Amino acid sequence: GFGFHHLFPFKELPYDDDQKGLRDQVLIKFSHVVAENTPKGLAVDRFARLVEEKSDGRIKVAVFPNGSLYSDIEEVSALEEGTVQMIAPATSKLQMLSPKWGVLDLPFIFPNEEAVRHGLEGSIGKELLQTFDGTDIKGLALWSNGFKQLTTNEKVIKKPKDVSGQKFRIMQSPVLDAQFTMLRADGIQHQFNDTYSLLDRKEIDGEENTVSNIYSKGFYNVQQNMTITNHGYLAYAVMINRSFWDEQDEETKNIILEAMKEATAWNEKEALEKNKEQLQYIRENSSMKIHTLTKKERKEWLNALSPLYKKYEEEFGPSLMKEAIKLRD
Ligand code: LMR
Repeated sequence: GFGFHHLFPFKELPYDDDQKGLRDQVLIKFSHVVAENTPKGLAVDRFARLVEEKSDGRIKVAVFPNGSLYSDIEEVSALEEGTVQMIAPATSKLQMLSPKWGVLDLPFIFPNEEAVRHGLEGSIGKELLQTFDGTDIKGLALWSNGFKQLTTNEKVIKKPKDVSGQKFRIMQSPVLDAQFTMLRADGIQHQFNDTYSLLDRKEIDGEENTVSNIYSKGFYNVQQNMTITNHGYLAYAVMINRSFWDEQDEETKNIILEAMKEATAWNEKEALEKNKEQLQYIRENSSMKIHTLTKKERKEWLNALSPLYKKYEEEFGPSLMKEAIKLRD
């Protein structure tokens, strides 16, 4: 009864074969950076609940939202080192692992929701998840948030030239950086949870994000304008530490995969709902001025940014680029 057993409740407790609950306890720490009431936050919570239910409490998923454990800049190394077991970063932030992920950041690659589904669930999504083969990371799924919009402090954005000279917070993505450079604007990489105070202190003029993030992090309270551009898409790669995965028995792996499948299907619908509902909220309850790009304006944006497709042709490879252009057109 003495000793260090209480410190190692998952491994060292004495047990016999009937005490399955004690024997096979598994703890998954899942870290993410967004609020809980968001497409990702809700999908993580749902995944956690499903895993616990399916395993009768044997597998626990401890969720750390809002960057409370690791920021978006730190979380990929934390996963690789195994200090957390799961994360779901924006695909934009994975170009440091493989430049191919940048394909999803090409401006206006997805003209609509249907194209997003083709992209994430079809051959592009498969090829991207395969970039994890032979690494410390196993890719489990692609989740959705939604289309990105532009918010600014003073300047009303309608035409591509309207962003020139403005500073925008961007994610850690070379393609997003190139996108703003092409528009003669400044894309400044900062961690997600610093964005609010940077906007509040007017150290930057604007940012690009989904309505859900603009709503849940209160950016709409510190920005005067929003333009519904749908110029980019925010998707997530759900990832698990590979050695942790390899250590699990078949039953545990199956439960995780099943729960992931259900949470992913749910996320797809919930993401659309949340962004729609929260746009409505911002329209009705804030002083933010909202402009939606007209068809003509959208065309101007696409023309201004289409050289990026040429620029990245070589880096992404012909097969990905061909698929990307097919989706776009
Ligand atoms: C951002 O950094 O703007 C987003 O990636 C945050 C998130 O995870 O949705």
